[in-house]
Amino acid sequence: MSTLTFPHSFLWGAATAAHQIEGNNVGSDWWARETAPESAVAERSGDAADSYHRYREDISLLARSGLTHYRFSLEWSRIEPAPGMFSRAAIAHYGRVVEACLDAGVVPIVTLHHFTVPQWFAAQGGWRHAQAPELFERFAARVVHLLAPCPYVITINEPNILAMMAGGEKGDAELQAGALPSPDEVVSNALIGAHKRAVRVLRSAGLRAGWSVAPQQFFADPGAEEVLADYAYPREGLFLESSRGDDFVAVQAYTRTRISLEGPQPAPSDAEVTLTGWEYYPPAIAEAARQAYDLTGLPVLVSENGIATADDERRIDYTRAALSALHAEMARGLPVIGYLHWSLLDNYEWGSYGPTFGLIAFDAETFKRTPKASLWWLGRVARGGVMESV
Ligand code: BGC
Repeated sequence: MSTLTFPHSFLWGAATAAHQIEGNNVGSDWWARETAPESAVAERSGDAADSYHRYREDISLLARSGLTHYRFSLEWSRIEPAPGMFSRAAIAHYGRVVEACLDAGVVPIVTLHHFTVPQWFAAQGGWRHAQAPELFERFAARVVHLLAPCPYVITINEPNILAMMAGGEKGDAELQAGALPSPDEVVSNALIGAHKRAVRVLRSAGLRAGWSVAPQQFFADPGAEEVLADYAYPREGLFLESSRGDDFVAVQAYTRTRISLEGPQPAPSDAEVTLTGWEYYPPAIAEAARQAYDLTGLPVLVSENGIATADDERRIDYTRAALSALHAEMARGLPVIGYLHWSLLDNYEWGSYGPTFGLIAFDAETFKRTPKASLWWLGRVARGGVMESV
C-alpha cells in the first residue's frame, strides 16, 4: 500500500442520466417501451429518483462530499416533445439545474444525449431516419446557450452501445457485457454524423466537445487475436477513431470480455461477478483510457466507472483499485482530465432497479436520499487529491 497523489487539475465528480433518475419521462422512446402492453422490460422507470424535482438536493449532497463536478444529461424528449416544437419551460428547467450546480460551487458537465430519444423521433425511424444527424444538430443548437459554464460537453453517450442495441433490436436493451449484438451500420454512421454536427455547434459557441465511448476490454485467447480484431473494430475502434479532432475523448468502462475462437465469452464461473453479472475487474477503466489515448492522442475524461453492488465496502474496494490502475497509467504519461463515478444515485438501470450503482441510495416511496459511505470516501479522496493504493 502506498499513497497516490493526483494532480491539482484532476476533476472529481459523479454522473447521472436523465431517464435513469428524473422520473416520468413520458415522451421518451424508453417510456413507450417500458409501458407497452406486452413489454419485455422487467420494471418501469416510473418516478425514478424524482430528480426532476430534487436535483438541488442531489447536487448539494455531491458538493458536501467534496466532489466538484456533476455530469448529467438533458432529456431531448422533454425539450422537443414534438418535431420542431421546443419547450421553453423544459429548457429553463435545465438552466436551473446548471444554476443549482453553480450555486453549490459544482461544475456542470452536460451530456446532450444519453440513450433516450423522443418518441416522435423513434417513430420516424430514430437514428435510421435520413435526417437524424440534422435533427440532432437542431436540438443541440437550441440548448447550446445553457452550456457556457460547462468545461466539457459530451454529445452522445456510448454511441457504440447504442449502435449495438439498434443492431440487436430485441425490443429491450442489451447492456450485458459479453455477447453484444452486431452494431447496425446505418445507425453507427448516423451517430458519427450527428456527433460531428453537434461538435461544430458546440465549438462555435466556444465549448469543448467530445463523446463518451464504452470499450469492453476484449482480450483474446491464444490464436483468437484476429477474431478479436474483427469483433472489436465496429464495436469500439470505429467510435474511438471518430473522436479524432475533438477536444477530448471520454471513456466509461466496468469490466472485460474474453474472446475465444467462438467469439465473446461470459465471465468465468469462478470469477466474482457484480449485480449486473459482469466480472469484477477494476483495471477496466485504466485499460479503456489507455486504448482511447493511443487511438486518438486526445486527453481522456473518465465519464463513468463504478460497480453494481449491494455491498458498499466492495464499491470502495472497486473504486480504489480502479483509481490505482488509472494513476499508474497517468504516471506513465497518460493525460487524464478527471474521474466521474457512475453513479451519483442508485437509479433505473435500463429495465430494473436491481443493480445499484449509486453513491447515494433513495427510498422509492418517499424519495429520501441516504448517502452511502462510498460517497464520503470518494469525496475525501477528491478533497485531498490523495488516496491509499490497493
Ligand atoms: C451507461 C449507463 C448505465 C451504466 C451501467 C453505461 O452503459 O451509460 O446509463 O447505467 O453504464 O450499466
